Amino acid sequence: MSQKRGNQDYAISSKDELGKIKDQRLVRLDAYVNGKWVGATSDRRFEVTDPGTLQTIGHVADMNAHDVSKAVDAASDAFGKWSKTTAKERASLLRKWYDQVMANKDDLARLMTLECGKPLAEAAGEIGYGASFIEWFSEEAKRAYGDVVPSPMSSTRMVVLKQPVGVAGIITPYNFPTAMITRKVAAALAAGCTVVVRPAHETPFSALALCELAERAGIPPGVFNVVPSSGENTPEVGKELTTNPKIRKVSFTGSTNVGKLLMSQASSTMKKISMELGGNAPFIVFEDASIRDAAEQLILCKFRNSGQTCVCANRIYVHDKVYDEFVSVFTSLVKEKLRIGHGLAPGVNFGPMITERGLAKTEEQLQRAVKAGAKVIVGGNRANVKSGGNFFEPTVLVNVSDDVPMTCEETFGPLCPIYRFTTEEEVMCRANNVPVGLAGYFFSRDIGRIFRVAEALEVGMVGVNIGSISTEVAPFGGVKESGVGREGSRYGIDEYLNIKYLNIAL
Ligand code: SIN
Repeated sequence: MSQKRGNQDYAISSKDELGKIKDQRLVRLDAYVNGKWVGATSDRRFEVTDPGTLQTIGHVADMNAHDVSKAVDAASDAFGKWSKTTAKERASLLRKWYDQVMANKDDLARLMTLECGKPLAEAAGEIGYGASFIEWFSEEAKRAYGDVVPSPMSSTRMVVLKQPVGVAGIITPYNFPTAMITRKVAAALAAGCTVVVRPAHETPFSALALCELAERAGIPPGVFNVVPSSGENTPEVGKELTTNPKIRKVSFTGSTNVGKLLMSQASSTMKKISMELGGNAPFIVFEDASIRDAAEQLILCKFRNSGQTCVCANRIYVHDKVYDEFVSVFTSLVKEKLRIGHGLAPGVNFGPMITERGLAKTEEQLQRAVKAGAKVIVGGNRANVKSGGNFFEPTVLVNVSDDVPMTCEETFGPLCPIYRFTTEEEVMCRANNVPVGLAGYFFSRDIGRIFRVAEALEVGMVGVNIGSISTEVAPFGGVKESGVGREGSRYGIDEYLNIKYLNIAL
């Protein structure tokens, strides 16, 4: 079925585009350890490509477990001093870092588009979103209050202190190369922890640019370390970050399978853990919903970052009475609004997928659904874009079975299956019938149903009559196999704090 072509005929040289970054000191190829730019001890480097062209954009230091242990030593040494700074001092440094990120947002957005593919306006949105966590935690640093507990004895006084956990090992994904780092690192630094970050091997540039800006802001050496590594070195680096006894906290965003492995490794030294893992978000349109609003929100919720977002709508349930109308309005919007192309081409709002592996998984899920009787009504193919790259059309399907991988697993691609339901009870049962529970969305104007459904959805975050939930002020995280812990909001800093209770005899 035909869709607007977007800007598929636009040729791109990734190297030329990289050269347009005004401040070239933001384009770093080395790791950042103890305030210095360093290569791997092995001298090895790994290739980073632009997913919109498949052209090389650079070769980055490939750190191994030995290199990472040295970064952990640096973070551990720096912890002594950093943990004793006042909250006000940390707040002021974080605020300066935030100002640096915002002052360089155009360059950072371009860099992000080149390494992860998301369209430039969306990348700029992520820079603002990522920076908002630094700003937020610069403010929260001063509010990590303890408690005074009424003692059961007149002769003692009881006080609860909050203290930084120690060195945090942080592992982040490719889909939000800036925001997933700042959401963790800003909370950690605000709490008084130091960090060693392993960014996704597809997207190390944004992470390294954040180091350059942190240094300009005056964040001391050893407090924020970034150790990029190739896919090949990922297992040993992950193991080091989860087993090194000097690390007291592990925070990971990524797939549920990898999260389980990291969690089991971290159990050997009983580290504090935050896991933000995969989802399979239901998006439910009840018969009393505004169809137009629901369809417009679904465009954003499903196709943001070409469907490569943990909180993306994955399964769309529409009430039988409004099903045909919804499908018709939604498919028209998909054809009208989404423009495929390289993220730097003018007018594009739908970019490539990150890897061939991601594309192949999307294709396989699609084929298995079609084999089981699904019908593709928009898209369904790899998109032919002149820049080259990993493009797949935004795809809408109907008649999708409840037991194919597209329904049972997280898609992480631009596939949008629309299912029919007839009762609230039935749809709640289907919505909750998955092992994960990150986000859920529904559309209804019935106040009773709003509370009933919001409370019954087995997820950590619910959008009611809205398809976006992400903000620095609200707690982000899931239930079931979607992980443990919360990021952002006033709760996010607790993940990096230990509670200590004092019983003081008078
Ligand atoms: C994610 O996909 O992991 C994060 C999405 C968000 O913060 O909105």
